[in-house]
Amino acid sequence: MDILKRLSDCGIVPVVVMDKVENAVPAAKALLSGGIDVMEITLRTKAGLESIRQVAANCPEVLVGAGTVVTLEQCKEVVDAGAKFIVAPGFNKEMVAWCVENNVSVTPGCVTPTEITEAILLGLKVVKFFPANVYGGLPAMTALAGPFGDVKFIPTGGISDKNLAEYAAAPFVHAVGGSWMCTKEDIAAGNFDKITQLASVATGIWKAGR
Ligand code: 3PG
Repeated sequence: MDILKRLSDCGIVPVVVMDKVENAVPAAKALLSGGIDVMEITLRTKAGLESIRQVAANCPEVLVGAGTVVTLEQCKEVVDAGAKFIVAPGFNKEMVAWCVENNVSVTPGCVTPTEITEAILLGLKVVKFFPANVYGGLPAMTALAGPFGDVKFIPTGGISDKNLAEYAAAPFVHAVGGSWMCTKEDIAAGNFDKITQLASVATGIWKAGR
């Protein structure tokens, strides 16, 4: 299975912060019903690691990855728990090299030419661009796509259904990440139908823009 292709086929990578493990599978199913079959569960909460394990074990149709992975130790833990891809806010060379050596898909946060160069040197072709809205968004990625024409970006941060179409239309955008269609507030409130509806709107916008 080509993991990075699964991300671009879906187009939307939900960044999910899970406060309670028991909400993980319902949230995954809600996203799936709305046409989103990938899910990044962050390690920002204590429930994150076990939530990854639950989705990996119980939702085979959903490609579950781990987000906010900062250290190599965390990376190994989430892979053991069943994470199929690793998302990092920044570039940890040791961790990225381990992922490459062990054939684990990884998209580290890279926003400067130097960070992107480091990623290329380790063999990556797709990086996260985070926080996209702070580091210049589409104009910044347009400029970086000049010298780095073989690199694709997963912009994350500040994306919603209001600006998704602009990102979807950009050829250097591999997929986008964001929390708007699966917020921790909606998860906590049990608004799973709303999550499905927002996921469906998001996938519609993405497909129309490609
Ligand atoms: C985050 O930092 O939580 C992610 O990048 C998602 O950002 P967003 O909430 O702006 O979509």
